[in-house]
Amino acid sequence: MNASHPSQRRSLDAVTRGRVLFGGDYNPEQWPEETWREDVRLMRRARVTSVTLGVFSWSTIEPEPGAREFRWLDTLMDLMHDHGIDVVLATPTASPPPWMGRLHPDTLPRDADGRTEWWGGRQHFSHSSATYRRYAAAITEDLAARYAGHPALTLWHINNEYCTYDHGDEAAAAFRRWLRERYGTLDALNTAWGTAFWSQGYDTWDGVLPPRRAHYLTNPAQLLDFRRFTSDMLLECFRAERDIVRRHTPHLPVTTNFMPLWSGQDAWRWAGEEDVVSVDLYPDPRDPLGAQHGALVQDMTRSQAGGGPWMLMEQAAGPVNWRGVNHPKPRGLNRLWSLQAVARGADAIHYFQWRQSRQGAEKFHSGMVSHAGEHGRTFQEVVELGADLARIGPEVAGRRVGADIAVLHDWDAWWASAQDGRPSARVDLPDVLHAWHRALWEAHLTTDFAHPEHDLGGYRLVVVPQLYALTDAATDHLLAYVRAGGTLVSGFLTGVADQDDRVREGGMDARLRALFGIRTLHEWWPLEAGETAPCDGFDGTLWSEEIESDDTADETIPYVGGELDGLPAVLRRGRAWYLSTLPEPDALRALLTRIATDAGVRPVLAGLPADVEAVRRGDLLFLLHHGREPVVVDVPGTHHDLLTGTAHTDRVPLGRYGAVVLRS
Ligand code: GAL
Repeated sequence: MNASHPSQRRSLDAVTRGRVLFGGDYNPEQWPEETWREDVRLMRRARVTSVTLGVFSWSTIEPEPGAREFRWLDTLMDLMHDHGIDVVLATPTASPPPWMGRLHPDTLPRDADGRTEWWGGRQHFSHSSATYRRYAAAITEDLAARYAGHPALTLWHINNEYCTYDHGDEAAAAFRRWLRERYGTLDALNTAWGTAFWSQGYDTWDGVLPPRRAHYLTNPAQLLDFRRFTSDMLLECFRAERDIVRRHTPHLPVTTNFMPLWSGQDAWRWAGEEDVVSVDLYPDPRDPLGAQHGALVQDMTRSQAGGGPWMLMEQAAGPVNWRGVNHPKPRGLNRLWSLQAVARGADAIHYFQWRQSRQGAEKFHSGMVSHAGEHGRTFQEVVELGADLARIGPEVAGRRVGADIAVLHDWDAWWASAQDGRPSARVDLPDVLHAWHRALWEAHLTTDFAHPEHDLGGYRLVVVPQLYALTDAATDHLLAYVRAGGTLVSGFLTGVADQDDRVREGGMDARLRALFGIRTLHEWWPLEAGETAPCDGFDGTLWSEEIESDDTADETIPYVGGELDGLPAVLRRGRAWYLSTLPEPDALRALLTRIATDAGVRPVLAGLPADVEAVRRGDLLFLLHHGREPVVVDVPGTHHDLLTGTAHTDRVPLGRYGAVVLRS
């Protein structure tokens, strides 16, 4: 399976045309027309290349059923074009007008408790509602017909952060249809869901429901299929709108913005349906690992884009408004994190939103133009960044980031593992992914992400932080990768279940046990917060296992002391490694560095000061300093910094949050 087919995509290159795009969501319907003129002046100052219009404009365009108010949008499209600004035009279907819910309550989603999600916020639509879909198609059709020939229009943005669930009656009917298609017969469904347990056998399709409030734990396979179904239904909504806009503008690319590591959408499948992959990214400026979170999301997004350029659709120029405490970005951080995204393959740096709102739920969320206005620090820094991106754009756009390491991630495995009734509620896949990616990031080893059934042939090292559920095909694929000479390193709770969340015999796939040299997996010993499992040379955290090796291992690192004393914590058999615990961060980094070195993978640059991130994009070297104290980086040879035009020989100084883009 290959989720993305870059060659068939209408590419982002056609939109960027040798630039790194710079702009943001523009919601001018909140402002009088005089402000639009002022906006354009400031956009020109900031060298904004592109804005996203229309994301939440449904009630402005269709104030009552069937009405169409396009004049304001005509004016804006023209205004943008007259000032050389491209438009990413969004279908407004993420937030239906109040009249829709009032006239058609069937468009409103229900949660598992049967409670309705009412209008008054946003994203209050049922993906299964035929009425919602009809209205969404109609407005998309008219929007596409009206602006198909408009010269400002360069990219379509469908909906916004698809993320809704529905447990209501229309969704129940759709769920049954989806299940019939997947299983064919009720017998097959009963088998896949293991309904013999707890007297859950179904005698008619009509009895099958989405997971609703139940007395005790809900059937895990039912929960798993509901996650798959939800992702598929939202994808149907996306496809329907995508196909409409494509009919009007076959030459223009289409995207929808992902949330980072969002569990509601199988992003591998979704990415394969988009022309341009885009993501919204909001690391916490106070999080010491905020930059690593950014790098992880950027690596994953680039991988979903088939390794090609991708779009940072949203980030914040300053604080967000949805954390408990919302911190601004200190001077320089907005630029640094934007350049990090460019380093890791982004050809577009966009924000939510252009001008900070004065009303509405997000009035305390920053914009590129903050409440402080043109003379505020936020806008000043936006102007500086716009100039930086304009300078490096022609050198950077379209270049690819190379990686020898693939980190595997799969939504099915995540959904199956993220349920109640597990050995440890402390094991959270995103945390585990972050821990493994962090080890590689701190070692300056650039990583792609991949689905376990993707072609892995080009990677020297494949890393599996955790794939709780693996299909037979995926398991065979991993074995074939190792047979063909690849190095595989796997974390615990991998290969435990099949595609129906049925536990494999022996508690772990026998083929994988043989691969790693495990005869018997006796018990899992999950760890409490603060508890460690001492091993020879490091402490394990989160999890430990009582494993009996089959004596074919070439190398083991044992647990030391306690119940597991002497048993293998880490096993290596040939080029296959198994880690039955999560080593503390320094130990995981050291181990993965050793494994990578043995596999022939080198860090981007050796001897980097702490806090300096190095990424190669094409033949350009990005150095990004995440610390506040000035440092000097040794980079042998003479290099030109594209940001400043300065030449550096052997030594490159970096100030607080400093960055250089070096060409040798
Ligand atoms: C995103 C969303 C934007 C805005 C932003 C605030 O989730 O797409 O519309 O709400 O968050 O951070």
